[in-house]
This record gives sequence, C-alpha cells and structure tokens, in this order.
Amino acid sequence: MNIQSAIIEGVNILQGKHIQTAQLDAEILMAKALGKDRKYIILNNNKYIQCKSLGYFKELIKERSSRKPIAYLINKKFFWNSEFFITSDTLIPRPDTELIIEQILKITKHKKNMNILDIGVGSGCILLSILNERKKFYGTGIDISKNCINISKINAKNLNVNTRTKFYKTDVDKFYFGKYDLIVSNPPYINKHNLKYLDIDVANFEPKIALDGGLDGLSEIRKVIKKTSELIKKNGKFILEIGFDQKNKVINLLKKKDFYINCTLKDFANNDRCIISTKI
Ligand SMILES: C[S@@+](CC[C@H](N)C(=O)[O-])C[C@H]1O[C@@H](n2cnc3c(N)ncnc32)[C@H](O)[C@@H]1O
Repeated sequence: MNIQSAIIEGVNILQGKHIQTAQLDAEILMAKALGKDRKYIILNNNKYIQCKSLGYFKELIKERSSRKPIAYLINKKFFWNSEFFITSDTLIPRPDTELIIEQILKITKHKKNMNILDIGVGSGCILLSILNERKKFYGTGIDISKNCINISKINAKNLNVNTRTKFYKTDVDKFYFGKYDLIVSNPPYINKHNLKYLDIDVANFEPKIALDGGLDGLSEIRKVIKKTSELIKKNGKFILEIGFDQKNKVINLLKKKDFYINCTLKDFANNDRCIISTKI
C-alpha cells in the first residue's frame, strides 16, 4: 500500500467518527508513523509504506478515533513561538493562553531584569515563552504534579533557558520561597460539576488536576490569589487566567487582597479570560 491510500483509509475512519480535521490529522499521524514531516508526506504520497509503519499508523488512527488529542499522540504542541514537549500529564497549551504572553511582553517591554513566578506551570509554556523572549529574566515554576515539573525541565532545556529557571513540585499552599516582580497563573478553574460537559477530547484525556476548580470553580484561584499576595513585591504585576463567567467574583477576591485591577482581557471567542492587577 502507498502513503496516499493509507491516508485515505485513515481519513475515512476518522470521518466515520465525526472528526472534523480528519485529513490534517491523518497526514500528521502518517508523518509521525514514518518519522518524517508533513511536507514529506505530501510530496511522497506514491511511495510504498512498510508493514511496520503501516501498523503503527493504523494504531495512531485508532487512538485518534477514540478522540485522543493529536498533541498527545505526537507529544508536541506549538505555543507562542516554540514547540513544547507534552504528554498526557500536562494540559495541552491553548491559543487563548497566548494572550497572557502578549500582555506580559507589553508590561515588561522596558524592564531590564525581573523575577517571575508561574503557579501551575504545567508544560512550562507560559514561563518558558517569556524567558525565551526576555533574555535577562529569571523564572520559577511550581506545580503539584511531579510529571509536569519534569516536562517543564525538559522544555526549559530544549529552549535553552534552563540556567535561568527553577522548578518545584509543590502544592501552591505549601510554597513559601522568594519574592517576585511578576506572578502569572493559569490555574484549574472549571466547576467540578461541569467537567463532564467538556469536549470528549478534553474530558476523557486531559488531566483532571489541570481542570478541576472545585465545587464553584474558584477553589484553586482562591489559593493562587492568597499565595500571590504573600509572594509578590509591592507594585508587582499579577496576571491571572480565569473562566468565562468568573470575572466579577475574581475581581472581588483580588480587591480583598489589596490588588488594583489594571484591566481584564477577552479571548478569541470574546469571553473574559484574563485579569491584570497590581499589588498595592
Ligand atoms: C490549567 S493547567 C495550566 C498549565 C500551563 N500553565 C498552561 O497554561 O498550559 C493548571 C496546572 O496547575 C497545576 N495545579 C493544580 N492544582 C495545583 C495546586 N494546588 N498547586 C500547584 N499546582 C497545581 C496542574 O497540575 C496543572 O499543571
């Protein structure tokens, strides 16, 4: 069988499962099965595919049919301007979170050096993207998941920013180290009861610990705000990602801890997604 015929078979299977991106997914998975890039697949679609690679491709198509996200099947996701290694232990970096990077780069445009803390660092996508752009900044990432910490360390090395990073496996509640000019967090913020209504790709495959915000969706946000108010320097900036319906409640929590609200930002779907505040 040649590459093209195998891809057509794969596309048919994925379309049968109502996967909208069937063609693209099948090409990406073929590239993975052959250890090549997508360009090779497109330019060489008449080439014969060896039995072993075909078997691997079919296995990947089967996994994708069960709705496992492509990013977990190929172990990578592009975010901001770098490729991040990810596994099913980490949340898949989201395009909406790039909003945070854009804002932090604006805020820090004229800053020479800064000490940044990322609470719930996950794959490291936020912290490491900033350090990659701001060569004199230092960063600390914390996460309750040991596997996330290990993955962040791998990404820090891949991006060549590892000498400017520190990582700790800890619950946010139990972290007491350092004082920071800027703190950023994309915490779990989905109401526990709503987890089951998420897309199957998310609900069945992404780590619950990265999504579950407790009974009102705010339990981790409360912890993050409390810890930030302890560890942030006076006049330090706090950038927090929130759920679409949490703006007013989170603003109240921030004000109670003496944060001045600079602005709130909307995501691509026009939902409130991020609050920027300053410790006064
Ligand atoms: C929504 S994910 C964000 C990951 C990454 N920062 C991103 O934006 O893609 C939240 C992260 O917080 C971590 N986390 C959850 N509860 C935590 C806690 N109590 N203390 C520290 N980290 C926690 C999870 O393991 C997960 O990696």
